[in-house]
Amino acid sequence: MARGYLWLQWLAGALLLYPVMKFIDFSPPKKPRLVKVLKEVAINGFVVEHDFILFVDQDGPRAISRKCTHLGCRLNYQTRENVLLCPCHQSRFTTGGRRISGPAPKDLPSYPVTKMSGNEGPGYVVSL
Ligand code: FES
Repeated sequence: MARGYLWLQWLAGALLLYPVMKFIDFSPPKKPRLVKVLKEVAINGFVVEHDFILFVDQDGPRAISRKCTHLGCRLNYQTRENVLLCPCHQSRFTTGGRRISGPAPKDLPSYPVTKMSGNEGPGYVVSL
């Protein structure tokens, strides 16, 4: 084949590769979304954000997802009982994300948290 058509072979290969990659459900790894919590949280304190709840205890900060593993409703933190409660079908989770009861099939995911310091000011960065 003439050298001038090499680009056409590459184009045909790329066009065939795309549906194959979709078929095997390949997707490149996503960059984590970083969420800053711009306040200091006292030991045994917590902050409720849209996608997670940040708890701070003697072991350090931890961020637990607020998305229920049943059908995805947003969980609320019940301070009196110290549990995360789903308002849709009443699944309950510990503040560490472990499933206690209800129809939710799995524990809640947690997210990596780093504490900001220095010029960044007090606060935390959560990688979703
Ligand atoms: S969506 Fe949470 S228990 Fe059903």
